[in-house]
Amino acid sequence: MIGAIRSVLRRGFGLIERPFDRLFPPTLNPLAQLGALGFFFFWIVAVSGIYLFIFFDTGIERAYGSVEHLTRDYWFHAGVMRSFHRYASDLMVVMVVVHLLREFAYDHYRGVRWFSWLTGLPVIWLLYASGITGYWLVWDKLAHYVALTTSELLDWLPIFGEPIARNFISTGTLTSRFFTLMVFMHVAVPLFLLFIMWVHILRISRPKVNPPRMLAALSLVALVGVSLWKPALSQGHVDLAKAPVEVGLDWFYLPLYPLTDIWGKGAIWAFLGAFSLMIALMPWLPPLRRAKPAEVDLAHCNGCARCAEDCPYEAIRMVPRTDGMPFPTQAEVKSSLCVSCGICVGACPSSTPFRRSAELRTGIDLPDRSLRELRERVIATAATLQGAPRLLVLACERGAGAGRVDGTVALPCVANAPPSLVDFILSRNLADGVVIAGCAESACYHRLGVAWTEQRFAGMRDPHLRTRVPRERIATIWASALETNRLEQELAAFGRAVAALPPRPPAPAPASGAVAPAPRTPASEEVCT
Ligand code: HEM
Ligand code: SF4
Ligand code: SF4
Repeated sequence: MIGAIRSVLRRGFGLIERPFDRLFPPTLNPLAQLGALGFFFFWIVAVSGIYLFIFFDTGIERAYGSVEHLTRDYWFHAGVMRSFHRYASDLMVVMVVVHLLREFAYDHYRGVRWFSWLTGLPVIWLLYASGITGYWLVWDKLAHYVALTTSELLDWLPIFGEPIARNFISTGTLTSRFFTLMVFMHVAVPLFLLFIMWVHILRISRPKVNPPRMLAALSLVALVGVSLWKPALSQGHVDLAKAPVEVGLDWFYLPLYPLTDIWGKGAIWAFLGAFSLMIALMPWLPPLRRAKPAEVDLAHCNGCARCAEDCPYEAIRMVPRTDGMPFPTQAEVKSSLCVSCGICVGACPSSTPFRRSAELRTGIDLPDRSLRELRERVIATAATLQGAPRLLVLACERGAGAGRVDGTVALPCVANAPPSLVDFILSRNLADGVVIAGCAESACYHRLGVAWTEQRFAGMRDPHLRTRVPRERIATIWASALETNRLEQELAAFGRAVAALPPRPPAPAPASGAVAPAPRTPASEEVCT
């Protein structure tokens, strides 16, 4: 059932995102930058909030007047800031909802990712608490409605000795101290929210917390436009003697408020409790089956730290050397954080299929899917290639190449293949062309696999693809599991391009990758051809 909902959602996101990716660079795809946009809107809310505080009078008598004053008399700066504050807060809600759905749709919430998912839950609560206390401060009719309904809801819980709702039903009962407490809450809760947002991304390496400049600029322009077109306004001074009957609601923050009267307070709390419980349990419904984590082989590790640099999950740290080898550090895998994506294997300098050891040991490897086994699969698949040109596909098992059989070697992530594997395939004449088929650029399942592959091939990241490797015989195709047709079309086009190339000189060595055993040496001294 959950799997079916997930695939429908994934299809929906794919239908929106893929055409977008074809028209614009992935950096402009807002759906691929939701977390970063969340942080961006938070900073806009924070800066505009500080600006508003300069004009805001925190006393209950003058709060409404001060907000009116800044909105009407200084509309061109403080008024715009007020609108910024409100609309950027609304956009945070939009971002949270879509971000939650997208992480769910792409199955980014189970396994070791439970941590980011679970810490998202207090983020939702704190975001709502920040927004609701904000509406309180304007002290207009909407504030009255919010104050009354919130306190009625809180009174339903056995927390307060005396009902707090009565503070808002008659004049003279509301103390200035209570209002000051709300002002304090509206500052303290967002600060705590920021702290939890930081915790939320603790277990992600290189989290995107700043949107690309163009996207940030476009968001700002849109905010200015909306702020001038529909400025945020108050709804008339509060009158505690009268019940607030007709108020305009902010549907981003207050959608449940009108339901309080219809469902009753108990039902609202039951709904919120059930929603929170469901979110909290989801990473284990059902739990993700885990492959064995990566293992370090110290005899082949020179402590270069490339694996730690490339791991998307902060699962590797460099620790002092323990085996007396003349290197200061060695890699250590924290197995509880490892998702067995194999990206570290592709990063290790000793991961080369050219190595002269029959066993093909590497500094870091996946016990269930070793580099040696990958080399054997590549050689075996290459032997089945027929016709001309012979194309070998190295496919991520989450992308469009996942279901392919002919001439295809499946990988947990395309960055699991070290660039030297492509060199090996072409220089040993195992194929006429190599295709790297990964997830869609803006939706890499392991977050950084596509980026690292592109950078390694472009010589911008170690390990580089050697310059001797003929680039015209390599293609990278980034396509989601929904885009199998596009993958086949691009494969056919690449096949035609390779067929038109001049014939290659004969291969320098036999097609068998494993050759005579070599004495065991540290990775840095290993001989590669
Ligand atoms: C203000 C609200 C939030 C902000 C600013 C935020 C921000 C972020 C950022 C920056 C990332 C890293 C993205 C990347 O670089 O790939 C991230 C990841 C993630 N977020 Fe959020 N988030 C928020 C709310 C939530 C909520 C409510 C949930 C779900 C309950 C959630 C679930 C996740 C998950 C599961 C990941 C991990 C994705 C992965 O491992 O690939 N987030 N978030
Ligand atoms: S397999 Fe993936 S998650 Fe595990 S240590 Fe290597 S790069 Fe990190
Ligand atoms: S040699 Fe390999 S295992 Fe050792 S630190 Fe470098 S990349 Fe990691």
